[in-house]
Amino acid sequence: MTSARQRPADALLRSSTSSAWAPQAVDQLELVLMDHAHCEKKAAASALALINDYPEDTELVHALGHLAEEEVGHFRQVHERLRARGAALGRDGGDPYARALLKLVRPHPRDRKVDRLLVCALIEARSCERFRLLREELARRGEAELAAWYRHLESSEAGHGALFVRLAEGVAGVEEVGARLAQLAAEEATIVGSLPLAPRVH
Ligand SMILES: [Fe+2]
Ligand SMILES: [Fe+2]
Repeated sequence: MTSARQRPADALLRSSTSSAWAPQAVDQLELVLMDHAHCEKKAAASALALINDYPEDTELVHALGHLAEEEVGHFRQVHERLRARGAALGRDGGDPYARALLKLVRPHPRDRKVDRLLVCALIEARSCERFRLLREELARRGEAELAAWYRHLESSEAGHGALFVRLAEGVAGVEEVGARLAQLAAEEATIVGSLPLAPRVH
């Protein structure tokens, strides 16, 4: 079985976002940025929550400490872009996508740890896919600076997706994680397909 290390983040996904999403999202980029800022904030918070819940897992604590710092950095970059546009962050409207995925987490402590890590991997992979679509649409419109910024975020989230899979493999092994990831990725495709196309990251 191939480890996630050798696969691009998009390869974790079982569906592709509709081609109608990116043009609509770029037309309302400020709304995308507001949701995006909250996504980065929540990515940092959930990494810290995993550190809080698994302090004995030295590799996890080390890797997610770095990741949380990077996500806060992303949050600050997104917020600076909002600030430059004279826009405030706005309230976090919640994330039905992430909430639906978290409902799939199994209760047994070992399964729970694997599933929480794999849900994070899928969220990273979907974010990575969406950043790629934004980057391509922005490049098409000649917005080179913004497109380059999204390219940077895209590769960072791809690395995060692979990291979460690797941490899950450390708990349950490559084979079990591959099988569970396939199940969760199929569920993720259903969830993402049931949500309306909106100027949001997910
Ligand atoms: Fe990020
Ligand atoms: Fe990330």
